[in-house]
Amino acid sequence: MTPLAERDGTLFVEDVSLPEIAAKHGTPCFVYSRSALEAAYREFDAAFEGIDHLVCYALKANSNLAVLDVFARLGSGFDVVSGGELARVVAAGGDPAKIVFSGVGKTDAELDDALRLGIGCFNVESASELEHLNRIAGVSGQRAPVSLRVNPDVDPKTHPYIATGLKENKFGIPFAEALPLYRRAARLPNIRLTGIDIHIGSQITALEPYREAATKLLALVDALASEGVHLAHIDLGGGIGIRYRDETPVELAQYAAMIKGLFCGRRESLVLEPGRRLTGNAGVLLTRVLYLKPGTETSFAVVDAAMNDLLRPALYDAWHAVRPVRPRHEAARVWQIVGPVCESADFLARDRELALGEGDLLAILSAGAYAMAMSSNYNSRPRAAEVLVDGATMHLVGRRESSDELFARESRLP
Ligand code: LLP
Repeated sequence: MTPLAERDGTLFVEDVSLPEIAAKHGTPCFVYSRSALEAAYREFDAAFEGIDHLVCYALKANSNLAVLDVFARLGSGFDVVSGGELARVVAAGGDPAKIVFSGVGKTDAELDDALRLGIGCFNVESASELEHLNRIAGVSGQRAPVSLRVNPDVDPKTHPYIATGLKENKFGIPFAEALPLYRRAARLPNIRLTGIDIHIGSQITALEPYREAATKLLALVDALASEGVHLAHIDLGGGIGIRYRDETPVELAQYAAMIKGLFCGRRESLVLEPGRRLTGNAGVLLTRVLYLKPGTETSFAVVDAAMNDLLRPALYDAWHAVRPVRPRHEAARVWQIVGPVCESADFLARDRELALGEGDLLAILSAGAYAMAMSSNYNSRPRAAEVLVDGATMHLVGRRESSDELFARESRLP
């Protein structure tokens, strides 16, 4: 689902035209649609109706405060992976009791902060982390709610950089070590075992890896129960893919039906950690063509957004659709859409047949997830503005960084 609609030859997000946003806030600019965010959340949540569940939005996909605010108002929980993300959820009005804290490298300070906040669960990824958490909880006289993240060794059939549930990946506790570690955890005085979790990868488009991983996990939960360790929740992570080009992502209804089938007759509640699915197609990156360099072999359209704004094409060779905001009815040519950064990896889209002119606005689609969240200041480029459209209103929810802000933290030598 794209939030874009064409009216009178111009692209709109909800009831605001993209040229109006560019005129007011400049480019490059991320534009999110509130109704698309809400629709994605509601669709996901409704798919699991009938089983006790909690959607914990994985905010690494897009952690803008306004986006978190939209989800918090709908009752969402949150999956965080750092102290920074924890602070964002609090700042956006999220409920700490609905936070799960994932990640292989939580620091003592992060564990302590999260404990004091009273988060819902720590997704613990190693025996050492468990010891740290037990010690830190003891100091403040608390019992930390814990789920062990298990690595089920299942191939999610996605890009190797975003596969996380294979035994060669750094994530989770090796499957064979999970049972002994649960036994040990059950004896630790400052740990309260509440659940178990997996997250096998991202941009997953097949159902089978989920079924395989969940089935393995449930067998482990049953083995634990037979030893007297009863868990309250099962967290199946995130990873549901979206359509960027021609992928056929898993239908939510099928995914939910598969899980409901597995959960039939069980007492545990379900936790899910979707990220991309809730935000990916709810946002676009608005950019302007600076220069055209037509050539006999290759033609370049240099735009004002770059790999520092949208890293996915450079990092994963990812494909994002590009649409002119006011399509021209002229002869098209094949363009390489590139940014101003001094690297040949700085491309946003390759081999796109478009009719372009200098000064034209382009919308780069599916830029609501892992776009602004992965942006940087490379080449000392200020980070882009972010606008959230709500009906006919545009809210500036992320001001463009100024050049002064780029080095405000730094100082010259005395
Ligand atoms: N839970 C955990 C523990 C995760 O590590 C992730 C994503 C998620 C949930 C959410 O996954 P999602 O539903 O968004 O697929 N930068 C990459 C994606 C990295 C995903 C990392 N972990 C990209 O641009 O494709």
